[in-house]
Amino acid sequence: MANITFIEASGQSTTVALNDGWSLMQGATANGVEGILGECGGSCACATCHCYVDEARLDALPPASEAELQMLENVAAERRPNSRLACQLKASAALEGLVVHLPAVQE
Ligand code: FES
Repeated sequence: MANITFIEASGQSTTVALNDGWSLMQGATANGVEGILGECGGSCACATCHCYVDEARLDALPPASEAELQMLENVAAERRPNSRLACQLKASAALEGLVVHLPAVQE
């Protein structure tokens, strides 16, 4: 399990306890976090689950796959070095306490 804090562009902060294996996208959409859409259901095909992860934790996360990197080229908001797709980040103890910021637009 991991407690993940989502901070929307408005400043609204929501902390969600996610069971291992749940994606951050699933956790956000299931808990009313509005800054993530997840239109493709998590198959890395829409880029509407774009998020900015805490830069201090970036190196401890599993690296983005080639498919994720390609999809990150299609995000609606500014792509940054700490941009990830929330559907590709799965909860585990390694993510405990992670803070992710959400862009103002997803499409
Ligand atoms: S939910 Fe579609 S790419 Fe993440």
